[in-house]
Amino acid sequence: MEHQVPVALVVGVTGITGLSLAQALKQPHCLGGGPWKVYGAARRPPPNWFPLSTVDNFITFNAVNSTDTLGKLSPIAGEVTHLFWVTFQFLGDEEANIAVNKAMLQNVLTALTSTPSSRLTHVTVQTGTKHYMGPIHDPGNKSIVLNGHAPPFHEDMPRLPYPNFYYALEDLVASHAPSLSYSVHRATIIIGASARSAMNALMILSTYAAPPPPVAVPLPGSRYTWEHFCDMIDARVLAEQHVWAAVTERGKNQAFNCTNGDVFTWKSVWRVLSEVFDVGFVELDESDEFDLVELMCDKGAVWDEIVEKHGLEKTKLEEIACFEAIMPVLRFGFQHVSSMSKSRECGFFGHADTFKSIRFWVGKLREMKLIPSYEYVAKANGYH
Ligand SMILES: NC(=O)c1ccc[n+]([C@@H]2O[C@H](COP(=O)([O-])OP(=O)(O)OC[C@H]3O[C@@H](n4cnc5c(N)ncnc54)[C@H](OP(=O)(O)O)[C@@H]3O)[C@@H](O)[C@H]2O)c1
Repeated sequence: MEHQVPVALVVGVTGITGLSLAQALKQPHCLGGGPWKVYGAARRPPPNWFPLSTVDNFITFNAVNSTDTLGKLSPIAGEVTHLFWVTFQFLGDEEANIAVNKAMLQNVLTALTSTPSSRLTHVTVQTGTKHYMGPIHDPGNKSIVLNGHAPPFHEDMPRLPYPNFYYALEDLVASHAPSLSYSVHRATIIIGASARSAMNALMILSTYAAPPPPVAVPLPGSRYTWEHFCDMIDARVLAEQHVWAAVTERGKNQAFNCTNGDVFTWKSVWRVLSEVFDVGFVELDESDEFDLVELMCDKGAVWDEIVEKHGLEKTKLEEIACFEAIMPVLRFGFQHVSSMSKSRECGFFGHADTFKSIRFWVGKLREMKLIPSYEYVAKANGYH
C-alpha cells in the first residue's frame, strides 16, 4: 500500500511555537512518518528571518475573516491531515477574546472539513496556564494574587468560574469528536524565537537588557519571584509534544501541561542572562522598585537606532516586546509551576534544561538578527 505522508497545517507558523513546530515536522525522523508536508499560515507574509525551507507552502489568510479563510484553505482541504493551532488574538476583554478566538478556529475547521474529500483527523490546540489561574492582569497590583488553583497545576483541576477563551477552544474541538481527535497543550511561559509573537518573554527581556554597550541592569519584580520557583517550556519541546499527541493513541482527546520538566527562580535566570549578555549580575533591590512598562515606554526611537546601527531585522519595539505582559509574571505571588506527570504517564518524555534553553535561544535571536550580538561595539544607547 502506498505510504501517505501526513500533511500539517500550522496556523501561526511565524509565532513563537509555530516556527519550532514546522521545523520539528520537517525532521527526517519526525513521529508520524516524517518529514511531513507542511503548510504554514499567518496573516502577514513571511518575514526575512523566517526560514522558508521549513514549510512547503506559506499561506497568508486572516482566520477572523470566514470568507478569506474558506477561500485560502479550501484548495488544501482534501490534503491536510493534522491542524496545529498555535495562534490567538488578544483583545483585552475576555468575552471579546472568547468570541474572536472561537470564530477563528471555527472558520478554519469549517474550511478544512466542509469538503467530502476532507482528510483531517486531528487538531492540536495550544492554550496556557491561565487555564488554572483566573484573571491576572491587575495593573495596580504589585504582587499578583492567585484567583485560581494552588500550584503545582494538574490537568484534572476543575475549570474556574471566570470567562476564559481557552475553555471555549477546548469545548469547540471536543464538540468535533469523534469525527476528529484533538489534544490541548497548556503551555507555561514559552521560550523561543519570533518577532511576530505577542508574548515572547526572552525577546522582551533581551530588548531591555541586551542592547550594546553591555551594561548591568536590575530585573524588576518582587522578592517572592526572585526566590521562588517558576517554570518555562522550550518551544522545541512544546513542538515535540504537539507532534507526539497528534500521532499517539494515548495523546488523543486529552489536555496536557507542557514545561521543561525543571524549575528556576528569576534570580537564577537573571544570573544566566547576565552571563549570556556579558554584563555584571545585579541583585534585586526592593527599595528601587521600578516598572519596565514605564521605563521602556519612550524607548521606541532608541530601539530604531539600534536596529539601524547593527543591521538587525526591521522591528518596532512595541511589536516585539510587550512589557505589560511580563510585569505580572515577575510579580506573581505564587509559584508558577505545572505538573508533567500526566504527560509522562501517557508516554511523552520530552524535556529540557531551562538554562541551556535560554543560552540556545539567545544565540538564535542573535543569529536571526533580532537582537544585537556583541561583535558590535556601540556607544551608549540611552537606555540605562
Ligand atoms: N507566548 C507564550 O509565552 C505563551 C505561553 C503560554 C501560552 N500561550 C498561548 O499559546 C497560544 C498561541 O500563542 P503563541 O504565543 O504561541 O502565538 P504567537 O507567538 O503570538 O504567534 C501568533 C501567530 O499567529 C498568527 N496570527 C495571529 N492572528 C492571526 C489571524 N487572525 N489569522 C492567521 N494567523 C494569525 C501570527 O502571525 P500574523 O501576526 O502575521 O498573523 C503568528 O504567526 C495562545 O493561546 C497563547 O495564549 C503563549
